[in-house]
Amino acid sequence: MIKAVLGSFCLVLSAGAWAHGDVTPHPIDTSALPQLGEEWRDTNPYRGNKQVEEVGAEGYLHNCAGCHGLNAISGGIAPDLLLLSVDCASMSGDGQESCFQENDEYFKNVVLHGKKTSSGRVTMPGYDGVFTQEAVWAVKAYIDARTLEENP
Ligand code: HEC
Repeated sequence: MIKAVLGSFCLVLSAGAWAHGDVTPHPIDTSALPQLGEEWRDTNPYRGNKQVEEVGAEGYLHNCAGCHGLNAISGGIAPDLLLLSVDCASMSGDGQESCFQENDEYFKNVVLHGKKTSSGRVTMPGYDGVFTQEAVWAVKAYIDARTLEENP
């Protein structure tokens, strides 16, 4: 389902609309999702929620795909995000959930603050102030769902 949704966006891409990739942070409209309050969580409360995954897929497409690849499959410019939790895919139940949780906080911190080289050059923008907490976890829920889809 997620793949099918993104499939239609690929046509837009091949039509040249985003020939150079769009890497400017864009807010994600998360007003329709269950609201999480002010306090940041350390783990993703949304994993497995299909509605959230679709919002995350769209947010990913507009913010991350330009560097990390369409459908979260890396084209080699930036790390393959499907490798982050690949070990979790072979697990089940609570074990799988806690495996995904181990990467939640790392993911949140990278997305909020971005990445720099040791000389201070920005390699990935930070989304602090652009993404709501709901947006960060929606994108992670999407990436985790894609991890399971690609590693059945
Ligand atoms: C301008 C290109 C660019 C954009 C846009 C971008 N990233 Fe990145 N990202 C990178 C690069 C390059 C790295 C590796 C940087 C490094 O390790 O120094 C990275 C690293 C990461 C990592 C750490 C990966 C690991 O294996 O440790 C995560 C997680 C991540 N990005 C998530 C995202 C998400 C989610 C988005 C969209 C909200 C995003 N990135 C947008 C370029 C980008």
